[in-house]
Amino acid sequence: MIILKNVYFCQNEKKILKNISLRIKKNKIITLIGPNGAGKSTLIRIILKLQKQSFGKVIYLRKNKIGYVPQKIYLNTPFPITVYKFMKILNNYKKNIIIKNLKKVGVIKLKTRNLNSLSGGEIQKVLLARALLNNPDLLVLDEPTQGMDILGQLKLYQLIHKIKNSLKCSVLIVSHDLNLVMNQTDKVICLNKHICCKGTPKLVSKNKNFIKIFGLIKIRKFAFYNHNHNHKHNF
Ligand SMILES: Nc1ncnc2c1ncn2[C@@H]1O[C@H](COP(=O)(O)OP(=O)(O)OP(=O)(O)O)[C@@H](O)[C@H]1O
Ligand SMILES: [Mg+2]
Repeated sequence: MIILKNVYFCQNEKKILKNISLRIKKNKIITLIGPNGAGKSTLIRIILKLQKQSFGKVIYLRKNKIGYVPQKIYLNTPFPITVYKFMKILNNYKKNIIIKNLKKVGVIKLKTRNLNSLSGGEIQKVLLARALLNNPDLLVLDEPTQGMDILGQLKLYQLIHKIKNSLKCSVLIVSHDLNLVMNQTDKVICLNKHICCKGTPKLVSKNKNFIKIFGLIKIRKFAFYNHNHNHKHNF
């Protein structure tokens, strides 16, 4: 769908991205992983045409519909805005489309809530629902699980995997935890200004460049357990 060839990005003569070449293929999940300041968000903004590369080529093989969940949004609106209005504001989507996507992400109950009153994890889910409104061919998520507890993160990755299968879209996702994305990703790209290594999650987790940055990670299998809520509280 998209090809990057020898892309560089410089800011004030500082190289932020060096010689990035990669391909985003149809119906695949790619995870971008790297330390803080590695250039992950910058690379994403270049792919989304929100920023222009200094050198190199970004080739779009087709006209893609893109859904984007940014790393940060600034919610300093002077007036309150409900989740429903926030979903409608961009393209005046029809009510049934908004409801369908809020349901898909499991946040329909937040429809009439003020955006400013949501928890970090709830906001991330609303942003995901908003990114799905145009039935994207490519879903780009920049650290979508920030502010979520571990089970919430795992569930969100599973949901993204499900969405990818139902929409038949590609997903480009920034994550800091290879363990969590391990089972839900086709390819991992480890970035630290340049591409340190790339490949299947299993291969990357054993790569010496990856280990240098992230240390040796033990591949865990997550087990679900049923938490019984019959605690006796003595208040
Ligand atoms: N407009 C800018 N002017 C100057 N430096 C910038 C600008 N945008 C990004 N940078 C720098 O480029 C580097 C990469 O930033 P970027 O936000 O892409 O990193 P990241 O990998 O997404 O980090 P994080 O994991 O913290 O989100 C950082 O050192 C940042 O300070
Ligand atoms: Mg970032």
